[in-house]
Amino acid sequence: MKNSRRLMAGLGLAAGTYVLAAGIVAFAVPGAEVQISRADSMGQGQGHSHSHDHGHSHVSAEQAEQLTGPFGAHGDRHPQAASFASPADGLTERRRRAMSALSGHFRAVSATLLSDAGGEDMIGIHADALAALGGRIDTLFDIASPAPEGEKGALAAIWAQPDNFARYTSAFSTEAERFAQTVRDGGDMVNGLHDLRYYCVACHADFRQR
Ligand code: HEC
Repeated sequence: MKNSRRLMAGLGLAAGTYVLAAGIVAFAVPGAEVQISRADSMGQGQGHSHSHDHGHSHVSAEQAEQLTGPFGAHGDRHPQAASFASPADGLTERRRRAMSALSGHFRAVSATLLSDAGGEDMIGIHADALAALGGRIDTLFDIASPAPEGEKGALAAIWAQPDNFARYTSAFSTEAERFAQTVRDGGDMVNGLHDLRYYCVACHADFRQR
């Protein structure tokens, strides 16, 4: 039972990581499996700062933080870690969270524009969020915080070749702002989204270890 659960969890983690890495649809992964995998990786002592547990792994119901409000008492099983091992680890957490946010906004727009998901009236909100986050993307790399050799995450080249990397962050900022403007102008949003995506993919190809 334990083993099969761990296998399931492993599959969940692999799928989750792949889905995030590929930047495809995060909701394709059942949330429960990802949570189990996080709990398991903690249990195996792999919950160290550079793993993908995001510093707030799934805890048991008894350890959940109790929240109260108008809808009754509820336990939050994903409390935020009180501290990180280093500033670099804290930044890595925020960077990954911010990247996931970029991905969420991007995918919400693509579900509207490239699919039949509806939500035309929300495109501007997501585009503005992409532009706002995109405008500060360089700050997500302020402290040298490469992933350990061979692990998923940011490559050391980001900090070894700062001028080259700055071309990628600045091009993304510009393109994200351009896309928001295209949406405001009622321009060609499908092509605009396609153009923006190039900058996500190029930076990942050159500066991210998967
Ligand atoms: C200038 C470079 C750059 C740009 C532009 C960029 N990314 Fe990233 N992205 C990275 C790096 C580097 C990582 C690895 C960060 C880490 O693990 O510390 C990453 C990680 C991610 C992750 C994984 C987050 C996690 O939880 O591990 C997602 C999802 C993602 N990016 C989506 C996007 C999307 C979508 C876009 C475009 C809308 C984008 N990124 C633009 C460099 C970039």
